[in-house]
Amino acid sequence: MITDRDSGTRIDEIAADTYRISVPVTTIPGGFTFNHYLIVDDEPLLFHAGKRSMFALVRGAISAVMPVERLRHISFSHLESDECGALNQFLAVAPAAAPLVGAFAARVSINDMSDRLARPLDDGEAVSLGSHSVRWLSTPHFPHGWEAGLLVDETTGTLFCSDLFTQAGADHAPLTQGDILEPSEALRKRLDFYTYAPNTAAMVEKVAATNPTTIACMHGPAWRGDGGALIRGLGDRLAGR
Ligand SMILES: [Fe+2]
Ligand SMILES: [Fe+2]
Repeated sequence: MITDRDSGTRIDEIAADTYRISVPVTTIPGGFTFNHYLIVDDEPLLFHAGKRSMFALVRGAISAVMPVERLRHISFSHLESDECGALNQFLAVAPAAAPLVGAFAARVSINDMSDRLARPLDDGEAVSLGSHSVRWLSTPHFPHGWEAGLLVDETTGTLFCSDLFTQAGADHAPLTQGDILEPSEALRKRLDFYTYAPNTAAMVEKVAATNPTTIACMHGPAWRGDGGALIRGLGDRLAGR
């Protein structure tokens, strides 16, 4: 469903109660999308607050499926403007909301930058949203940032993977079962946005072992399939650089 005709911002359900809010940007060569994910539950969760400049668009899309003031958790992987630039703007309109981030991120950056203290999560800690249960995976330097982590919805088998499998293009289906590894590898070869760290192989296996069936990409279409195999395929490519 298009929620802003000028920008092409849209919201689509890609798993049960799980919505992809996509803001296309055609001024970036080749096109690009910035995606934000909303889990509608007793305690609604937004993964990626998004850029400050996109706040009105993302808020407008959320409003198409629920009142934005119901938001309880604002979660994201690492410290970058597309991950958390609009965090304080969302906290201002959702009085019961708080950042839901790794304990290390909370201590190092978020509790200083955020207008409300974070709920810090230990590695592997689960949080019930009502009918959905999400689990935090601490993944330092994967894809990048020493505070990085990823979130898994164990109820729907959805991995909120941040910049993993980043793909170019501004015009694609919200959800695909086609190949996303090769298009994302093409972009990695150009932009080289991963950290290649001593723990990379261990982080790949840690995330793959969750065996997600939906991969909620921050940039590009979401994906449905054997997520464990896809992530191990990425790991093979990263090992070969
Ligand atoms: Fe990033
Ligand atoms: Fe990103």
